[in-house]
Order: sequence, then structure tokens, then C-alpha cells
Amino acid sequence: MAPSRSQARGQGCDRGNPQRRGSATRGSAAALLRLDPAEIRWFRRRLLRWYRKYARPWPWRASANSYHVWVAEVMLQQTRVEVVAKAFPRFLARFPSVADLALAPLENVLAVWSGLGYYTRARNLHRAAQWLWKHGYREFPREPSLARALPGVGPYTVAAVLSIAYNQRLAAVDANVRRVLGRVTGNPSATKNGKLAQAIAVALLDPHAPGDWNQALMELGQRLCIPRTPQCPACPWQPRCATARSSVALRIAAPRRRGPGKSPIELVADLVFDTRGRIVVERGVFPYLRHLWVPVLHEAQASAAGLAPSRGQSLGTFRHAIGKRQFRVSVYLRKLSNQKATRFLHDVPAPGERRLVTPKELEHLGRSSLLLKSWQLWVRQLARGGVAFSEANQ
Ligand code: ADE
Repeated sequence: MAPSRSQARGQGCDRGNPQRRGSATRGSAAALLRLDPAEIRWFRRRLLRWYRKYARPWPWRASANSYHVWVAEVMLQQTRVEVVAKAFPRFLARFPSVADLALAPLENVLAVWSGLGYYTRARNLHRAAQWLWKHGYREFPREPSLARALPGVGPYTVAAVLSIAYNQRLAAVDANVRRVLGRVTGNPSATKNGKLAQAIAVALLDPHAPGDWNQALMELGQRLCIPRTPQCPACPWQPRCATARSSVALRIAAPRRRGPGKSPIELVADLVFDTRGRIVVERGVFPYLRHLWVPVLHEAQASAAGLAPSRGQSLGTFRHAIGKRQFRVSVYLRKLSNQKATRFLHDVPAPGERRLVTPKELEHLGRSSLLLKSWQLWVRQLARGGVAFSEANQ
């Protein structure tokens, strides 16, 4: 539904904006979190510093143009960031402004939208641009209530666009952000309870950089605080995260408690191949070997708890020591289609890096002995002729 003329004329910035209705919500959330102002500042400082260092340079982040931000946010609602990164520049090259979009025939807009799916989004974007153009708007509206009345624009999109493009203090809460906030505050119900998550988000929002703040939370939810295998050791909030304190993932990052003679840490090493025989290797993720290339590693408990991808074919186990820490590594073989393997490459938490390399190229990388030992198991199995290459689920 498009906005009425009276909406276009008369609404002040705060009216109709639930995030600005007094301090009751903000106050009660802060009380709920039992965070004092110094702690809240700590959370803000840590996350923004991490984001400014590791944020991926997506094309929409190069511009604060409200139309650009709006287009990106609509695309990002149901499409993966990597896909949007390709489609976004193409769309803006064809429709560089609200006017260009409004004046274009719908079929042209749909044609350029191809590959993104969920075409209702393109239809709504087009209708909204037409309404704005007709009523003299050349950019995304600054008034939340007016923006909210545009076709296809919900509270999340309003908060994201207004905070990123206009620095307005609005918290953008999507599913990723709900999960992050639920975990960090130890309120798992916030993952499902939108009101609770919203109240927490408003209490934590950095008032000086709301756009960066919102994007930093999204980035954290996409890269580290991921659903099944949270990467707590790399997380800037890990020291004060209520969930990380009890998380299995943290066992890897808490070495001092385990001395020699204690039972080894169980690891799973995945040798992930594509159909051309190239292997995925990673570095920067495993806390004890950040500079060396390793196979794709998970903590075994995460696998057993269903928190890691399903396993492929077992190749055997070996023991491995790094300093005083003892590991028992179970090696599995997984084969992915080339397309899945390429996608898998991007699915790595910051500041990690994954590469798909041929065995020859592997020889020129700084390989860890953990990788060499895993590789040996695979070679041994090959020599025995015992490798069944069926495609494993991701
Ligand atoms: N998902 C939704 N909005 C996003 C943004 N601005 N950056 C990255 N991922 C997003």
C-alpha cells in the first residue's frame, strides 16, 4: 500500500516510530540485560572496532545514497550477500536513480532483477519508486512513518535504510541479529521473540554510528555468530558473551584448563574436494595455527550435537600435539559439486580465509602438519582403493 498524501506532507520524524517512543523500552531492556553504561560502551566499542577492521567491502557499503541503500536492503532480504554483490551494480547501472526506476517499464525492471528471485520485491520497489517520483521525492523518505507505508517496506527496511543513509538512531533487527542478541545476553527466547530482541537492540544501539552498528551486528551474525557452528574464539564479544561462556566451541579457546595427561580435544578434519579433485583448505580460523593452512576443522562435540555439517566417509584418526595441547583428529572425506565447493569457500568466519587448490598447488602453501597427516590418511585410503566418492550433504 502506498502512502497517502497527508502522510507525505505532515508527519514528523518521530511520530509513528516505535523505537523512539520514550525511554521505557530502552530502560527496561538495559535493566533486563543488567548492563551498566560502561559495559554497554564496551560492547559498542568492541563490535565497531571489529567491523571497521573486517567488514567485507560490499558495493552497497561504498555509498550512503539512500536510494542505493534501499535497493541493496530489498535485495538482501531473501538473497545471499554474494549473489546481491553481483546483481546490485548491474541494477544501479540500469536504474541509477529513483527517477530512472520509476520511469522504466516494469518488464525491464523484472528482467534486470533476474537471478535474485522473489520478484514481488522488484514489483514493490518499482511501485514505491513510482509513488515517490509522482509525489516529488527524489530519494528514500526520511520520515519513518512515510517510508513504512511504501510497498514492500517493513520496519526492518526502514530502520536499515534510515540508519545507514541518514544516521537515524533506529535498530534494524533481522533473524541474524535476533540470534546474536539472544546469545550474547543469554536470552535465547530473543531469537524468536521479536519484541524482546528489539528492546535489547535499542538498548545497545550505538547512537553515534547507528548505520555501522546495524551492519556490524548483521556481519557478526552472518560470519561468526552463525547458527550451527558459532565461531566464538574469533568473536569480539566472546569475553562477555553469556552463551560463549558455556559453549562447546569455547573449549578450543580455553587451553589453560587442560594440562598434559588430560583427555585430548576431539577434532574433526574434513577433506572437502570438488569434482575436479581440488581440495578446500583454510587458515586464520583454527586458533592455534592461524598462519598455516589446515583442512576444514570443527570441534567433534559440535558435530555430535548436530552443530556442524554432516560427515562424509571416515578416513581414520590420528593424534596431534600443538604445544601442550593434545588433539585427537578424526578425518573425513567429503565431495561437493563445483558450485557447492565455490559457495563453501565464502562460508568462512572472519578473519579466516578458504581456498580451493589442486594437490600440486597445495605443495606451495604453508601446510600445517595437521593437514599433512590428514592428507596421508587420504593417500593411504586411495592406495587401498577404498574411497567411495559420493556427494555429502553440506
Ligand atoms: N543483510 C541485510 N542488510 C545487510 C547489509 N547492509 N550488509 C550485509 N548484509 C545485510
